[in-house]
Amino acid sequence: MTYLKALREDAPLLDAYLRYFEVTRTPFTIPGHKQRASKLDLGLGAVVDGDTPLYGGLDEIKLTNQTLKSAESLAAKLWGGDYARFSTGGSTHVNQAVILALGKPGDKIAVARTAHRSVLSALVLAGLEPIWLAPEIDAATGVPTGIPLSELERVLPQKPIALLLTEPGYLGTISQLPQLIGKAHAHKIPVVIDAAWGAHFGFHNDLPKHVLQLGADALITSTHKALPGFSASALLVARGEYLNLDRLEQSFETTHTTSPAGAPLASIDGCRALLQHRGEELLGQLLENVAKFKAEISANFDRPIFLSPSDFATGRFDPVKIVLRANQLGTSGVEIENELLKANIRVEMADRDTVVFLATLADDAESFAELNNSLLPILQKLASAPRESATALSWSVVPQIALSMRDAYFADTEMIAAQSAEGRISADLIAPYPPGVAVVAPGEVLTKEILTGLAANKAAGVRIAYATDPTLQSYRVVKSS
Ligand SMILES: Cc1ncc(COP(=O)(O)O)c(C=O)c1O
Repeated sequence: MTYLKALREDAPLLDAYLRYFEVTRTPFTIPGHKQRASKLDLGLGAVVDGDTPLYGGLDEIKLTNQTLKSAESLAAKLWGGDYARFSTGGSTHVNQAVILALGKPGDKIAVARTAHRSVLSALVLAGLEPIWLAPEIDAATGVPTGIPLSELERVLPQKPIALLLTEPGYLGTISQLPQLIGKAHAHKIPVVIDAAWGAHFGFHNDLPKHVLQLGADALITSTHKALPGFSASALLVARGEYLNLDRLEQSFETTHTTSPAGAPLASIDGCRALLQHRGEELLGQLLENVAKFKAEISANFDRPIFLSPSDFATGRFDPVKIVLRANQLGTSGVEIENELLKANIRVEMADRDTVVFLATLADDAESFAELNNSLLPILQKLASAPRESATALSWSVVPQIALSMRDAYFADTEMIAAQSAEGRISADLIAPYPPGVAVVAPGEVLTKEILTGLAANKAAGVRIAYATDPTLQSYRVVKSS
């Protein structure tokens, strides 16, 4: 028996996807390409002929076989939840679905400021008002280490209806979750965790536990990030003690497409089966490969150049995360990225002081050897005296709120030259992407620090996303009355 067959046997959606293509069919249903677009154009066919939807593909049009439900139940069981849903819209969609199910317009919610932009957009949709929680910054590395308990305690008198955290953070650090979850639950507050980058947690003893193991009420994760899932595939697993699961189901369906593609769904099922059957073995290899890679590169330098678990309290850093500290090498992360691009190596994120490499179960010793071969000569060429660690703009901004995010989102707006923007109220969410963490959100004041910081990041080669004027020559602000 081949391994693929074994995985498929325990993955109902993956099996349904593969079975669809093993039988000849004559569909008079969507999708319109009928898996025959290559008859019209080879290129178009190459893109769409491997596609089949949930309805009429992985299951009958009326979902008579309940294939999706079976697969979701297996995921709920593996992660220890009461309820699971598979999304084809990424953690972006799952964040929307969960946030829409939490309260009613005007309610307040405690949110880590390190949240991804999808969380902020979901708050606007749901009409919830964020109470921002600021991350603690590690003095040695300039990295946000998570939300301290004191931040949650500070905002409890404002009676938030939920606590929404982003764990792990983009650079791999993790808050002291048992404390935060315990405190929230002591006040009957549900804890929702955007764990977009943490889908592998909890499946190896040397990795942090996943957030449901730590007592959280909802785990949102992208199966296409840390796991080998299809683009924009994502998973929600939740528990019903503090969350209303019927309402969650309604919100999920309200915001999800009514025509989900089969491949992302089947891939989530396949990733679940892979973790269940081979997670420990494959994650063990990955942990070993990452540690070896970092050690081999580091041996050539007289100072620490990667973030490492020993930089943080035990269990507070994802040991699979590869974060190169360009400042320690006295060079620019963007320059390292540009050199790597010449060797056809793409990195997940690069800014002035940092380069983030995403390593997953799909990387083996050979991929790390290739990266090593290209990266080491580049670092040796570019390295000079270290620069002090600076905290990136995304982690250091203290928002000055002038107007509710939702009011600013729907306000009359005008474009104003960058030179005149200081002190005005932003109508846009603006974020270096990645990580997609807002430097300014609608309703917040465009301070000098923000304006100069955004301009400096742009000049350094960082992509600044979502500004109406991407050149940053002008800003969209709330119209003055
Ligand atoms: C923390 C976090 N949450 C949510 C998302 C959105 O995930 P997706 O791309 O799966 O929609 C991202 C994307 O990078 C993210 O970093």
